[in-house]
Amino acid sequence: MCGIIGVTSHQNITHHVLSCLENLEYRGYDSAGIASVHNQKWNLRKTVGKLLNLKNLINTQPLSGTTAVGHTRWATHGPITQENAHPHIAPSVAVVHNGIIENYDKLASQYQLPAHIENDTAILTLLLDLWHTKHGLSPKETLIHAFKELEGSYAFVALFLSEPSALYAARQGSPLVIGQGTEHHHHYVGSDALCMASYTQNIVYIEDRQWAHIQPHDFSIFDDLGNRLELPLVKHHIPAHQVSKGHYKHFMEKEIAEQPLVLHKTLAPFLPEDTSAPPLIPSLASINWLKIPRILITGCGSAYHAALTAQYWFETLAQIPCQVELASEYRYRDSPASPNDLVIAISQSGETKDTLEALKKAQNNKLRTLGLVNVPSSSLARIADHTVLTEAGPEIGVASTKAFSSQLAALLLIACVAGNQRNTFPQHNITSLRNALESLPALASSVINDIPYLPIAEILHSMRTILYIGRNFCYPIALEAALKMKEISYIHAEGYASGELKHGPIALVDKLTSVIAVAPPSHLSEKNLFVKTMSNLHSSTARGCTGIIISDKNGVKDAQEQNPQLLSITMPSGIHTALIPILYTLPIQLLAYHTALLKGTDIDQPRNLAKSVTVE
Ligand code: M6R
Repeated sequence: MCGIIGVTSHQNITHHVLSCLENLEYRGYDSAGIASVHNQKWNLRKTVGKLLNLKNLINTQPLSGTTAVGHTRWATHGPITQENAHPHIAPSVAVVHNGIIENYDKLASQYQLPAHIENDTAILTLLLDLWHTKHGLSPKETLIHAFKELEGSYAFVALFLSEPSALYAARQGSPLVIGQGTEHHHHYVGSDALCMASYTQNIVYIEDRQWAHIQPHDFSIFDDLGNRLELPLVKHHIPAHQVSKGHYKHFMEKEIAEQPLVLHKTLAPFLPEDTSAPPLIPSLASINWLKIPRILITGCGSAYHAALTAQYWFETLAQIPCQVELASEYRYRDSPASPNDLVIAISQSGETKDTLEALKKAQNNKLRTLGLVNVPSSSLARIADHTVLTEAGPEIGVASTKAFSSQLAALLLIACVAGNQRNTFPQHNITSLRNALESLPALASSVINDIPYLPIAEILHSMRTILYIGRNFCYPIALEAALKMKEISYIHAEGYASGELKHGPIALVDKLTSVIAVAPPSHLSEKNLFVKTMSNLHSSTARGCTGIIISDKNGVKDAQEQNPQLLSITMPSGIHTALIPILYTLPIQLLAYHTALLKGTDIDQPRNLAKSVTVE
């Protein structure tokens, strides 16, 4: 999603803006730009493509200024062109914007702006200019007026030529933070605390319908009526190593490698020292799980797949009926709910528009909400009734890896807490699960480091289609596998419940297809799920595709006895059933990573994708 940054200082700060833009790259973008005022004139540099292009332009055409705005654009309105890149400039104002102004075309015709402009930010800029210059509003009055007129979800920063050492920033629906620079000589405003982490960790979070006036030595925040507000300054400690790749080639590779530690950090706070005691989650202490008739879990992308996995845990371990819905669907559906239902919203960023709106819908329906989120200061963490934090740390690669596995670990714990209180555990011995959870980080480390993934990736990278199949809680892992593969390698990939293959997808199977079965053998052995998935895999290989099985030693042996051509990833044996989805996620991440590496794609910032999707 678009990233915005503004810096105001007494010194030349355009290099600060460039370095903050580098920290916004992870959000995904297709053009970038910077504007400042110099000698009462606009200084503007914009380029399409990577930030390197902007840096090269600035090297040949230097840019100076003590107050500047910068932007990374992820196209929503209008094609990826230099003209559509931000900042947008009108005679009196420069604007960077994130989000969508939904009524921009109505406003354009109401204020008789040129009809050919099809870009909401360009219209916003013209409107601010019009209200300021033609209608004679001061910059402050212009911002207050903007709240009355604009509809949609947005955050923007405006630099007025009449006040060239100040920034004006407004938020309605899209994130915006202010950073207080050292010794109060400069201030920052941007999309997140991460982008300014090299300069400041003193952060103020602006809320919806608030705006700020930011100067080099000071800043003030107001509501949409112009009343001054006092918001708390928060220390946002982001260790430098978390926002750098270290010795890794990609953030995704680093984030995959961090999973053993992340799983430990996510689980440890909730596992009491007494190893026979069940997990305990203090932020959920007031929930009476006996009185919850149904759980609804929602999220988008990988978070939705985590939700689908958790459905099996809530229904098996806690015996609570559980429904899972994509946040983008749930928010617009008339779904009957009973008053004691619990709604769990899952999000790494805590800023995904659809997930936030789904949570708000649940709250409007007077349902209790729980946010499972990775960014503690995010909107989701702040508005949910209960919050459980994953401890993944900043996830920079667009493809979710450590956030997804830590979501799974946290959801498993929540299901254990619920099951323990509901006394539905007899068959799932708490001590054995506790022991298994303690062993999870070490097992994860061995799956990441001891299994060779490259030989299989070398086969996958020349495939046209990859189909992942799985049953029960390996079905959502098959969905996640396909999402991971397609988003970073651009190979067409789909995930299916194994039983569905013969109902249509098998028509895709040919020599350029690989079918990968996520098939742990011990998994629900009483229902013969392994045997059934193998039969689905064999019926695919019989039609000429490359078959691959992810299973343990016995599973691989059984499968290859029937079909010696099958390729395999051999996982550790004896994994506790509840941990299978978490551990079987790791090979699918690594297969996607190595395949993308061989294809030479932009792994951390795949084309067309944004890290945090703050528009719907
Ligand atoms: O920040 P969120 O967890 O709410 O993001 C949800 C999805 O946008 C995200 O999981 C996306 O699907 C990832 N790129 C998947 O790797």
